[in-house]
Amino acid sequence: MRLLHTSIAFLLAGSISAMSSPVVAQPKARVWTVPEAGALPRDAHGMQVREGRDLVTATYAHIGPNVADAAKRYAGNNLACANCHLQAGTKKFGLPLFGLWGDFPQYSARIGAAISIEDRINSCMTRSMNGRPMPADAPEMQAIVSYVKFLSTGVAPDRRLPGMGAGHMRELKRAADPKRGERVYAHACAACHNTDGSGIRNSAPNTDLGYLMPPLWGADSFNDGAGMARLINVANFVHFNMPHGTDYLNPQLSVENAWDVAAYVVSQPRPHKVGLSKDFPDLLLKPVDAAYGPYADKFSARQHKYGPFAPIRAAITKLKREEKTKPHQ
Ligand code: HEC
Ligand code: HEC
Repeated sequence: MRLLHTSIAFLLAGSISAMSSPVVAQPKARVWTVPEAGALPRDAHGMQVREGRDLVTATYAHIGPNVADAAKRYAGNNLACANCHLQAGTKKFGLPLFGLWGDFPQYSARIGAAISIEDRINSCMTRSMNGRPMPADAPEMQAIVSYVKFLSTGVAPDRRLPGMGAGHMRELKRAADPKRGERVYAHACAACHNTDGSGIRNSAPNTDLGYLMPPLWGADSFNDGAGMARLINVANFVHFNMPHGTDYLNPQLSVENAWDVAAYVVSQPRPHKVGLSKDFPDLLLKPVDAAYGPYADKFSARQHKYGPFAPIRAAITKLKREEKTKPHQ
């Protein structure tokens, strides 16, 4: 398997001259060698990791709002974690769950305290999945944690891998434009995500509660406190991963179209999470694209939502410097 991946990486690198020399280990491989859950022994640990993977790829079927056992209805929508954490969390710049075990516990600016991996998962549970937190000792939580840990097998804990997150394309000097984005949506997204953003449900004979194409807004989507409700996340995710099947090495949408279509997506209605004003207790650490106040700076909520962000970052940097030189009371 390692050999296969290495040669794919090699081909993607597209270097003709290098192809005549022997293939050696690729420290900066363009694709990752991801451990395969299906290859684990079928013992208790192997079964728990598999269950975790199923919970990520078919979340709605096990802990969704329509499952038979009401006690298991943790998620509030019928999305799957893997609708955003692509390829079961193993895709470079597809919001991977791969290789992040060593990052936890970590400081969360959103909470203003150190959080565990369970806390981080629950953060997606209550925002991306618009649901309620799972107890740390729930078998479903433990299975997801086992799977995330398994995905970090052999990854050095002290290093954040290139390929994490959703990527960083260049930003626009102007505000992203939802009107222009609406036109991009019509020709590049609507065929799959539906004209009203509500996606396409699985249908007979494959009725398993989930989506063939997940919704991007509306009642069954992620809520307004989710990471995916922030422009910079959506724009990069879409640029490097959409239309579905797109790889970061070969984006389909132009940078400009990705920003504008993302603006259109974040301009649409979605469930509201109460208490958002309490997020990011240190306002200087609030992401510049958080669409909800309060803010440390004087920029409008509209500029925080659509950009441009460079002037906001400059103001925050200045405020941080002033904060440092302020005498302690
Ligand atoms: C609607 C999209 C979406 C869904 C669905 C979703 N997430 Fe996320 N998740 C995100 C985004 C976006 C981030 C990064 C947020 C940020 O850093 O601003 C993230 C971050 C994470 C992280 C931290 C990753 C890191 O690099 O540190 C974990 C762990 C995680 N999610 C787990 C889950 C699990 C488990 C589920 C299902 C129960 C889930 N997520 C469902 C969008 C989603
Ligand atoms: C060929 C069909 C297709 C097209 C075209 C497409 N998508 Fe997707 N999109 C998907 C699928 C399928 C997923 C879920 C991925 C998975 O589960 O592996 C997805 C996931 C997403 C997600 C994260 C999940 C969620 O529910 O929010 C976003 C955001 C998104 N797409 C935005 C877009 C945008 C914007 C466009 C247009 C530029 C677009 N997509 C074009 C099929 C498509």
